[in-house]
Amino acid sequence: MKLPVLLLFTPIISAQLPLCPNYADYSKTRHPPFTSGIHSLPFQRPPPHCRTFNSSAVESHIVQLKSEIADPDLAQLFENAWPNTLDTAVRWFGRGAEDDEELAFIVTGDINAMWLRDSAAQVRAYLRVLEPDHEGEEPSVGYKVGKAEGDTASLAALFRGVINLQARYILSSPFCNAFQPPAEAGIPRGVNEFAMADAVAPPPNGETVFECKFEIDSLAAFLHLSADYHDATHHTAFFSSAKNWLPAIRTILSTLRTMQSPTYDPQNGTVLPAGYTFQRQTTRATETTDNDGRGHPARRTGMVRTAFRPSDDAAALPYNIPGNMMIVTGLARAATIADAVGDKSLADKMRALQGEIDEAVKKFGIVPILTESGDIERVYAYEVDGFGSALHMDDANVPSLLSIPLLGYSSSTDEVYLRTRARVLSPEGNGYLMRGPALSAVGGPHVGPGWAWPMASIVRVLTAEMDDEIRGELKALVGSTSGLGLVHESVNTQDGGQWTRQR
Ligand SMILES: *[C@@H]1O[C@H](CO)[C@@H](O)[C@H](O)[C@H]1NC(C)=O
Ligand SMILES: *[C@@H]1O[C@H](CO)[C@@H](O)[C@H](O)[C@H]1NC(C)=O
Repeated sequence: MKLPVLLLFTPIISAQLPLCPNYADYSKTRHPPFTSGIHSLPFQRPPPHCRTFNSSAVESHIVQLKSEIADPDLAQLFENAWPNTLDTAVRWFGRGAEDDEELAFIVTGDINAMWLRDSAAQVRAYLRVLEPDHEGEEPSVGYKVGKAEGDTASLAALFRGVINLQARYILSSPFCNAFQPPAEAGIPRGVNEFAMADAVAPPPNGETVFECKFEIDSLAAFLHLSADYHDATHHTAFFSSAKNWLPAIRTILSTLRTMQSPTYDPQNGTVLPAGYTFQRQTTRATETTDNDGRGHPARRTGMVRTAFRPSDDAAALPYNIPGNMMIVTGLARAATIADAVGDKSLADKMRALQGEIDEAVKKFGIVPILTESGDIERVYAYEVDGFGSALHMDDANVPSLLSIPLLGYSSSTDEVYLRTRARVLSPEGNGYLMRGPALSAVGGPHVGPGWAWPMASIVRVLTAEMDDEIRGELKALVGSTSGLGLVHESVNTQDGGQWTRQR
């Protein structure tokens, strides 16, 4: 998200302890102790009394993994970056005014707003140490209470808080991507200077919305986050008793159905209602959409159109293939929750839509391409329009083509995936592959040519089969922090001292 620093963290005042620094500033200087590694990386966690959420499960996992990682710089990078959401971004955790539901407002780094995609990914990082904290349900064997002494709340409660707040947001404005603090938090609403003059239809709720870009992966993120929590805790009672969860799923289904609609009536060529339009006053082409807010024309395929990508940049063609894949796997996973709560008719509707989209991804998303040697090979396109146009590129933000196995859509040894991956990672096959001495990785139009995204290096590690590739990427990653020991948003490939953001 390319937005200015809008609202800095309010310092937490406490008896004798020093005021808490603004983390965006704090993280720009190196703090001791330094590692004995070649980069002598600093310790960048904020002081304990300034951390925004405590989890003993996370602390013990850090101790354990640090002892297992041989390279001191890599271990330090992990220790700094992994707890960063809990350390800095849980802006508020509390209860809903109406029915006492848990709510967690998790901000996107330096912006005082909660993105659906980002907050889901931010807590998903702790999935490995997520344990049930409720009584009486499965798994009865090995049952442990997830909240330990000294913790404010359990990680499970944090997950529920994010799910509850996201459900509320989705019901309020299902086409939007980023939201304001809930009224209960008593936090002043953020001002989004870029969005002041946005013309959006359907009109978003001005009280709750920070920005209203329709991004297919925002809704997919909610489906996956819900399934992550259910898979790890088997806490079905949460989903049946949560006031907003089932209604949010129904809203997601109708929103996705709306965005399956094509531009023209196939019989008589009438221009159909767009479902969603967005226009912004801007000098950046990727911050607004063409055709007066409706985007490039779409033929009906069965896939769901998106106006914006997971980078918050405008889509060039309406059907984003990785985004549709993420919806397919998200619907499949969340349908098992609908089954578990006993809403078979909803589960059936979810699976029907899943099937339609999946069939269309396979029919329209895999396209023949002429290789350098004159052969024809079939690869996944990044975006298509159903008329035969296909955009071949990848973007660092997940869902991306590189991340397909992480979306659960195919295995990392699937042939179409492997061919697609090879193109994404080749300078001949992806105009957004950024190369240079500081870092070589996929980037994107969000920061622009010449800026490689460490996030794409991480996705490459997580989808690689060969040890050499993993080792090489990890080495590059550890060297791409400008000595600051955190993961930047992007790095200038020619000069590692120049970077955007870090977390
Ligand atoms: C986390 O624990 C520290 C003590 O280690 C405490 O000062 C701080 O207030 C706690 N943070 C929260 C959000 O409970
Ligand atoms: C075009 O066809 C649709 C049904 O396919 C119909 O609802 C609509 O009224 C028609 N429009 C015109 C202008 O004929």
